[in-house]
Amino acid sequence: MAKFDKKKLWIIGIIAAVVIIGGSVGAIKYTSTNAFCVLCHTYEENSWMVGQHPEVNCITCHTKGLIMDKTVGIKKVFLTATGMVDPWHDKLPVKFKEEKCIACHFEPATDENKDLIDRHAKYTENVEGCLTCHGNVGHVQEILNEKYEYSKQQQ
Ligand code: HEC
Ligand code: HEC
Ligand code: HEC
Ligand code: HEC
Repeated sequence: MAKFDKKKLWIIGIIAAVVIIGGSVGAIKYTSTNAFCVLCHTYEENSWMVGQHPEVNCITCHTKGLIMDKTVGIKKVFLTATGMVDPWHDKLPVKFKEEKCIACHFEPATDENKDLIDRHAKYTENVEGCLTCHGNVGHVQEILNEKYEYSKQQQ
């Protein structure tokens, strides 16, 4: 009898592990989709769709690595749920890493992008970063700004 119970425990344990791991893999996948992001970032969806990178997913530009994303994500759900931040209208403290742009456009250096990189070596002599000149790449700013205007009207 004792042997049977042990086996049963093992089986229950394995099923539980599969459900938990399977469930969180699903959760990780879902919480990395555009559909999930735009639940809270509606204006960003509109300003991204008509921008220069509608084929690039939100998470590709905005990831800080899986662990950080999910930790920050839990904090964001908390801030939204408690009303401390209104992600639909507030200006959010975004820190964008331009290595993301470089990884897609300048690295690796191929024949195709060699001239572009050479030209940019001159452009970036006095200007740092990409966003000073390419401010609309992720989101068309005029559309994104509508979100803050609406926020002011409500106050
Ligand atoms: C539950 C609502 C909610 C969801 C879903 C959500 N966010 Fe956010 N997001 C927020 C809140 C709230 C903030 C402000 C956080 C703060 O003030 O610290 C924020 C901030 C941001 C910022 C600016 C700060 C930073 O970290 O650079 C970016 C970019 C961002 N979210 C992208 C995303 C992406 C990409 C997704 C999907 C993977 C996503 N968000 C899903 C609520 C959400
Ligand atoms: C090509 C890269 C790129 C893609 C794709 C992209 N973004 Fe962004 N996002 C940016 C950049 C760049 C900024 C502005 C950073 C700055 O001005 O410092 C930004 C800003 C934001 C902010 C902060 C807005 C605020 O209030 O200031 C949020 C939130 C955000 N993006 C969410 C999203 C979501 C959701 C998607 C997908 C629907 C997405 N982004 C797709 C590059 C991108
Ligand atoms: C996931 C890869 C990826 C990332 C990240 C990315 N881009 Fe792009 N970018 C592309 C692709 C693909 C195109 C379309 C290329 C084409 O049509 O020739 C593009 C197009 C562009 C264009 C030309 C748009 C046009 O209409 O001619 C510029 C400028 C640009 N990206 C700059 C940036 C900057 C700056 C960043 C960082 C904020 C960035 N990209 C991030 C892949 C990326
Ligand atoms: C001082 C302004 C300036 C800065 C800073 C700058 N660029 Fe550019 N970029 C330009 C100009 C002007 C063009 C169009 C002329 C050309 O292709 O040389 C351009 C074109 C591009 C294109 C090609 C668009 C197309 O139509 O194919 C890409 C991709 C690009 N930049 C990416 C970047 C990335 C990534 C960064 C950051 C590392 C960056 N740029 C920083 C001014 C700048």
